[in-house]
Amino acid sequence: MKTPLKNVPIHTTRRSLLRGLAGLALTQLLSTLSACGGRGNGMGGMGTMNPTPLINPNLASARPLPIVPLATGTVDGTGTRRHSLSAQAGTSQLVSGVNTSTWGYNGALLGPALLLRQGEATALTVQNTLAETTTAHWHGLLVPADMDGGPHQEILAGSSWTAAFTVSNAPSTCWYHPHTHGATGRQVIQGLGGLLIIEDSASAQALLPHVWGVDDVALVFQDRRFNADGSIDYALTPADKGRGYQGDHLLVNGCHNPVWQAPQQWVRLRLLNACNARFLSLRLSNSATLHQIANEGGLLASPVARSSLMLAPGERAEVLVDLSGLSLGQSLSLNARSSGMMDSGSVEVSALFLSVSQAAQAGAITALPATLPATPTLSAPAGAIRRTFSLDSSMSGGMGGGMGSGGMGFTINGTPFNIARTDFSLTAGNTEVWTFTNTTGMGHPIHVHGVRMSLLSRNGAPVAAQEQGQRDTFVVDGNGSVDVVVQAPATASAMPFMLHCHILEHEDAGMMLQFVAA
Ligand code: C2O
Ligand code: CU
Ligand code: CU
Repeated sequence: MKTPLKNVPIHTTRRSLLRGLAGLALTQLLSTLSACGGRGNGMGGMGTMNPTPLINPNLASARPLPIVPLATGTVDGTGTRRHSLSAQAGTSQLVSGVNTSTWGYNGALLGPALLLRQGEATALTVQNTLAETTTAHWHGLLVPADMDGGPHQEILAGSSWTAAFTVSNAPSTCWYHPHTHGATGRQVIQGLGGLLIIEDSASAQALLPHVWGVDDVALVFQDRRFNADGSIDYALTPADKGRGYQGDHLLVNGCHNPVWQAPQQWVRLRLLNACNARFLSLRLSNSATLHQIANEGGLLASPVARSSLMLAPGERAEVLVDLSGLSLGQSLSLNARSSGMMDSGSVEVSALFLSVSQAAQAGAITALPATLPATPTLSAPAGAIRRTFSLDSSMSGGMGGGMGSGGMGFTINGTPFNIARTDFSLTAGNTEVWTFTNTTGMGHPIHVHGVRMSLLSRNGAPVAAQEQGQRDTFVVDGNGSVDVVVQAPATASAMPFMLHCHILEHEDAGMMLQFVAA
C-alpha cells in the first residue's frame, strides 16, 4: 500500500510565490505538520519498503533562500589557514512559523561553507558544545586518517579537536558532517553539516560564475519529517531501517520551499544531496539544460548537458544554468523527484523557486566554457591488485519480499562493521582496481575515505561523461556492479579509513568496513 501524496504544487507564477505561509496561523501550520508528518499508523506498521512521498505544502513559502555563508577563515603568521567550528544546539524554522530544535555549526542549523585552498596548510578546529560525543568528517578531502574525522576521532562533549593537513584536492565542492559511531544519521538529521569549497590560487574561476551567493550559489538538499510539536521525527520505522530514513519535507539550505532572487545571467549551482537516504532527481521546471561542470572530484573536461540530474546521498554536482534569456520578474522552479527503488512513480515537487529579479552582474560570463581544466581520470596500471566488495542484504532472498521485519540488515562482504577490526590493508601509494557487486535490489551510494578514485566501468559498460574524473561517492545500482581505480593514501598509518554506504541508516547499522594504508 502506498501512502498517497497529499498535494504536489508546482508553482510557476510570481504571484503564487508571494502568497506564502504568511497568512496562516501557527495552529494551522502545526496541523499541516502533523498531517504531513504524523505517521504513527502509516507505513511504519506496514513492514514494507514503500517510499515516503515528498510533500510540499499547498502553499509556497515567501521565505528567501538562505544563502550559505562562505567563511574564508584567517591565515596565521605561519601561512596556515584556520577555521573554527562550534557544534551547538539551537532553534530553527525549517518550515515557516514552526520552531524546531536543531543543531548546527556556528549557528542553529547546518554550518558555513569553509573556503580551502589547494596546497595550503590548513587547521580546522571543532568545538563540541553539545551534550554528547560527535565527530567532524571532511567528506571528500584527501587527508591523513587521523585528521579525517571518522568514528575514531571522537570529540567528547565539551572538548575540541583540530584537524591539521595540507589541502591536496583539486578545486571542488566537498562537505563536512558528523561520523559518530552508530549515530551519524541522527546527528546529521539534527542539523550538523556544511560545505567545503576548495579553490586553487590561480583557479579556473574566471571561466565560471564565481561571486559567492550571487551567481555561485550552494544548494544543500535534505529531507526531514516532523512530529506534531515541530520537533524532528527520527524514530526509525521498519521502512526507514530498510531503505533508509525518508522525510516528507524536502528542504533547501534548511528551508522549506524557499525563493531565490536570481540574477539575469549564467549562474553556477553547487548541489549537495545531504539527505540521509533519499536519492533525488533534479530538473528545472522550464526544462532548461543543466550544464554539469563538476562532480565530486572537481571539474569535468567539458560541460555535460543534462535534462535532469540524479544525486544520491553524499554526491555533489556543479551545474551552470543560463538565466540570461528570462525576463526580470520571471519565475521557475528547481523540481525534485525521489529516485530510487520503488520510486519510479514518484511525483515531482518544487524544491526551490527561482525568481529572476536582478540584472546581470558586471563581469558575468556570457557563454558556456567549451573546455575546463579537468581533474584527471585515474587509469589502472597493468597487473593492479584487484579486490571485490559484495553489497549484501543480510536477509536471504534479497530485497524482494518480506522487507522491513525490523531485523533487516545490510553488509559489505557479509560482514557487519566492527570498529575494533581492520578489514584490509593497502600498500601506501599503490593503485588497485576494486569491483563492487550489489546483490540487493536497491542502489547503495558507496563512499571511500582517504583515496583518489575514478570509475572504470558501470554494469560492464563505459561510464558516462559526468562520472569521469574523480569521485568519492558513487552509486552501485540495484543488482549492478561498478569497477573503480583506487589510489591508496601516500602515507602509511595504523589509523583506519572508512568504506561505507552513504545511506546513513545503512552505515549506522553496519554497512561499513575499515582499511589501513600500510
Ligand atoms: Cu560523508 Cu564516511 O562519510
Ligand atoms: Cu567521507
Ligand atoms: Cu546502502
